[in-house]
Amino acid sequence: MAYVITQPCIDVKDGACTAACPVDCIYEGGRMFYIQPDECINCGLCLSICPVDAIAWDEEVAPEAHRFIEINRQFFSSAVSGLGSPGGWEKVMLPLDHPDVAAFKKESA
Ligand code: F3S
Repeated sequence: MAYVITQPCIDVKDGACTAACPVDCIYEGGRMFYIQPDECINCGLCLSICPVDAIAWDEEVAPEAHRFIEINRQFFSSAVSGLGSPGGWEKVMLPLDHPDVAAFKKESA
């Protein structure tokens, strides 16, 4: 179980959540941030600080955002970033995203 970053973060990347996280388990990709689910300690401090409500508890993720549970996990896999569990974000942006996020098209207003 872990917190999950979802679609509203894409192309917003406010970043306030990273300052709130006591274990630095939120990592920056090209279009959004991702939570390393094995490093997340489930404290929930990131949840209320996100201005676009992009973060959810994985057991409470809305059905339309459910795929982001796997998107956050898969971002760290060898198939995507290969980061694994590095033990803490160090303000380095990886110039890549999960393929579903890289291909994501925001609805135009
Ligand atoms: Fe994204 Fe919200 Fe964090 S926009 S970077 S999840 S504060």
